[in-house]
Amino acid sequence: MKILVTGAAGFIGSRVVARLLAEGHEVMGVDSFDIYYSRSQKEKNLMPVLLHPKFKLVEDNLAEMALVKVVKGTEAIVHLAAQPGVRGSWGSSFHRYVTNNIQVTQKLLEESKANKLKRFVYASSSSVYGDIAPPEGQDVAVLNEETACKPRSPYGVTKLAAESLVQLYHQEYKMPTVSLRFFSVYGPGQRPDMAFNRFCHSILHDAALTIYGDGKQVRDFTYVDDVVEVVAASVTSDAAVGEVVNLGGGSPCTLMEAITMLEEISGKTCAKTFLERQKGDVFSTRADITKLERIFGAKPKTALRDGLVKQWEWMQKFVHAEDEEQAIKAQVQPITGVDEAVLAEAKADEKATRKAARKAEKATKTKTTESNN
Ligand SMILES: NC(=O)c1ccc[n+]([C@@H]2O[C@H](COP(=O)([O-])OP(=O)(O)OC[C@H]3O[C@@H](n4cnc5c(N)ncnc54)[C@H](O)[C@@H]3O)[C@@H](O)[C@H]2O)c1
Repeated sequence: MKILVTGAAGFIGSRVVARLLAEGHEVMGVDSFDIYYSRSQKEKNLMPVLLHPKFKLVEDNLAEMALVKVVKGTEAIVHLAAQPGVRGSWGSSFHRYVTNNIQVTQKLLEESKANKLKRFVYASSSSVYGDIAPPEGQDVAVLNEETACKPRSPYGVTKLAAESLVQLYHQEYKMPTVSLRFFSVYGPGQRPDMAFNRFCHSILHDAALTIYGDGKQVRDFTYVDDVVEVVAASVTSDAAVGEVVNLGGGSPCTLMEAITMLEEISGKTCAKTFLERQKGDVFSTRADITKLERIFGAKPKTALRDGLVKQWEWMQKFVHAEDEEQAIKAQVQPITGVDEAVLAEAKADEKATRKAARKAEKATKTKTTESNN
């Protein structure tokens, strides 16, 4: 199948690309290398697939480019490009969320409509739910796809708006869409603004861990390869068409429990700084994955500890490489200006050398002519 993956250089996108190529698909990736986090991390994400004969990367901004360039001839789209991040979505950056999350999705849906795609997979988010109160007599709310969505952050609002657009195109144009609501994805390649990446970074630099709130918030952490598995299956599975499906890891725990695991894995206990709960950070996200199991016949299999071991191993190598690159850059002396006198002397030397070489060449030629005579 010819598949377009948007956000191909990102955390999840790059692993989706690798998986689809491994399945024999032809993949075109589009990414703008958005400045939200470092280009260098995104380039490293893509290293394993960059030279694959069936992979083509287009560096462009979906909001501005003519989409026909990448959609024409494509059979399926896996739409992962977005402006992520709950905290950053408040304030003056909101326009980035509107453009990259809502407008880009609408633009892609319009172009897909014209090209009669076999599948349009949309990366939705648990952030569409918001803070749902637990039913009476229970400690936490288990979120199923019928739960009313009341996002608590501008990010969640934009992801829900885009998800609603995807559903509309399915209803009105019979577009074969699938929306997957990802729950706190982690693992190798994780974005630097996400909790586990920040914690590993602090552990590696012997710095205090910064925790927003009291650390008792519950998250349904989902290992990235488990997400990739379902994304790949949804490209071909007919059972998923038109559906909105929770994609949660199935083993929710509190942030403090996850931190304790990371400390055990790394063998280091760290100081902790507790900061005020951030606006938009919900108390609990816990996915009901009954529908996921019913449609895909499988559920995420990676236990949190195993996934964290893999993320820790990756972080050690990644942070070491980044620190080395920074150290090298710091050693490079910028050329601030040229000393005119030194330059003139160098030019004079060069001229004298050339003159001497010409003279020597002439002398050799004269000698050769004399001996020939
Ligand atoms: N990581 C999670 O825990 C999580 C949870 C829920 C939902 N999601 C969703 O999954 C998707 C992927 O998330 P991620 O964590 O891999 O994020 P990411 O930031 O690593 O990847 C997104 C990629 O999209 C690209 N991009 C953004 N706007 C673009 C545009 N206009 N044109 C072209 N490229 C553009 C960025 O450069 C980036 O490489 C997003 O849609 C996100 O909302 C992620």
